[in-house]
Amino acid sequence: MTIDCVIAINKLNGFAKDGDIPWNCKEDLKWFKDVTANSVCLMGRKTYESLYKRSKNDIDILPGRKSIVISKSLDKPPPGVVSVAESIEDGIKEGYQLIKQNPTLRKISIIGGCETIYQSLDYIDTFYLSVINDMTICDTYFDVYKVVDKFQFVTSFPLSDCATLFLFKNYFTSKIKMQKKFFDSVQLYYPLK
Ligand SMILES: NC(=O)c1ccc[n+]([C@@H]2O[C@H](COP(=O)([O-])OP(=O)(O)OC[C@H]3O[C@@H](n4cnc5c(N)ncnc54)[C@H](OP(=O)(O)O)[C@@H]3O)[C@@H](O)[C@H]2O)c1
Repeated sequence: MTIDCVIAINKLNGFAKDGDIPWNCKEDLKWFKDVTANSVCLMGRKTYESLYKRSKNDIDILPGRKSIVISKSLDKPPPGVVSVAESIEDGIKEGYQLIKQNPTLRKISIIGGCETIYQSLDYIDTFYLSVINDMTICDTYFDVYKVVDKFQFVTSFPLSDCATLFLFKNYFTSKIKMQKKFFDSVQLYYPLK
């Protein structure tokens, strides 16, 4: 059972503008859909709001996946998600419980935004970073050094003319031990490797 992170930035490290993603790369959206299929998707409240504006789907804002929002201000799950968690750790625990109850779910994917990801780095095993061939000036930028410092670069390949995917892994065994300790409190359906 693993936790990954799936995000995109542009060539200026731009992450978001006016509460949304300012580029349109179909191949990257397809990649996002494929890599998060059968995942529990964990996201910050602002990312939820931007996705809901796009999807307007009250059942599942991300069809084929189960979504959990991290928030201290929401007191009940908003439309399209299964639950709201008060902290990253509670969100991860809830994600593991959902996976235990539903064998079609296979992993947790943390999908943004920056604020949520920066606090989750210690829990992430695999980091999928798409770099979009776009130079839009954004109002939110992603600090790639946080990833480069913590994770080991594995490979990169083009998704299309509009995006290149960079794959990073966290190999630190201390992290695995920490995860084991952390998840001792929940009965794991699949043992951690
Ligand atoms: N480029 C990409 O791949 C990508 C991916 C996802 C999102 N985005 C964009 O990024 C923007 C949002 O990102 P963001 O960094 O501003 O915000 P965010 O991480 O999506 O949401 C921040 C909110 O999440 C909640 N939160 C975060 N950490 C928490 C914690 N430890 N405990 C409890 N609640 C916590 C808080 O909600 P409350 O205030 O309710 O407590 C906080 O205000 C959107 O414009 C979105 O479109 C881009």
